[in-house]
Amino acid sequence: MDIRQLAAGQRDYILHTRRHLHSHPELSWQEVATTAFITRELTALGIPVMPILGSTGLVGVLRGEAPVQRGRTLMLRADIDALPIQERTGLPYASENPGVMHACGHDTHTAMLLGAARILHSLRAELAGEVRFLFQPAEEVNAGAEHCIRQGVLDGVDAIFGMHIWGDLDSPYFSIEQGSRMASCDNFTLTVHGTAAHGSAPHQGVDAIVAAAAVVTAAQTIVSRAVDPHVPLVLTFGEIHGGKRFNIIADEVTLVGTVRTHDRAVRRQVEPLLRRAAEHAAAVHGASITLDYQYLAPAVQNVTPALTALARDAATRLYGADALREMPPLMSSEDFAQYMERIPALFCFIGARNAALGLTAANHNDTFTVDEAALERGAALYAQFAHDYLQADELPRSSGAGQGA
Ligand code: NI
Repeated sequence: MDIRQLAAGQRDYILHTRRHLHSHPELSWQEVATTAFITRELTALGIPVMPILGSTGLVGVLRGEAPVQRGRTLMLRADIDALPIQERTGLPYASENPGVMHACGHDTHTAMLLGAARILHSLRAELAGEVRFLFQPAEEVNAGAEHCIRQGVLDGVDAIFGMHIWGDLDSPYFSIEQGSRMASCDNFTLTVHGTAAHGSAPHQGVDAIVAAAAVVTAAQTIVSRAVDPHVPLVLTFGEIHGGKRFNIIADEVTLVGTVRTHDRAVRRQVEPLLRRAAEHAAAVHGASITLDYQYLAPAVQNVTPALTALARDAATRLYGADALREMPPLMSSEDFAQYMERIPALFCFIGARNAALGLTAANHNDTFTVDEAALERGAALYAQFAHDYLQADELPRSSGAGQGA
């Protein structure tokens, strides 16, 4: 059994599949054709498919046929949704859906996992246990994983493995590292309330725009003054809306933003700090605020050394000691973290970048492209990890209890 060779045998299938998906991207929760496509591919293999109730996406179930002693179940996860971006790659297989693009490489994740399903299906006689293939919807809106969990996709699953293709990592290398890998993501809407007046008589009102400016400025000191400088923290105001007319004192301004960090304690510090800074900064101008703070995804943290070691070993046995690269933790986020809160899990990266070929655009960019040479390696790692996980003597299994947020 040589999974590297089997993956090479799937090269054309993976590329063809990836390009098909790339041409037909669908937004979060709308991955109808994508789900139908994956269903057809798995069904054609003889892999039974379970829908995810109430949404797009699906789970394929492959039962190994080797005599089972331990009977572990491993879930391999790919996300399947695209972004509301107009593609400008100029690729021959560019998006055919105006304004929608696979700019985060979820098309490659789907193709790699389908490739892995074909590899593992061909090895089913020697697989001891069960592999479930989770094709998750709606990652980009930070909601798909939570929905899948509510629908019971983790029931009976001992561990879960996920992978992301990454534009800042050289192809075709893996980053498989212990510790925090991606940040938590929490969003907020902060509304500044003032009082309208004629634009020529500001003293008769409370100017929400001036107060909002003070709020934005004051909030910058949360990162620079209030939180331990050793802890990475991003606080971004991405939207500001307010005012009705040039000669009316604005009575309301809405600020929308996001907060990213790798540290659980700091994550909990930010909401009260933001509330305090905003309340006081607004009060100086006689204005008030309301804050709607939404906790979305926790940080992606590889906290199970045995799983990290298993995946690193799988990668180096497949492609040699040179298969791995180190990559600093990212400040972007992934809703895969929701699974990590519940069962033993591992999340790693595969490189998309190839400067020699001019493939250097970052994820979420309208010119994002990937070095497709990496894709068979991704499929191989999914398959090798699953194979090795099911064979391994001692590994952490799901206790059914979360690790807490
Ligand atoms: Ni992504």
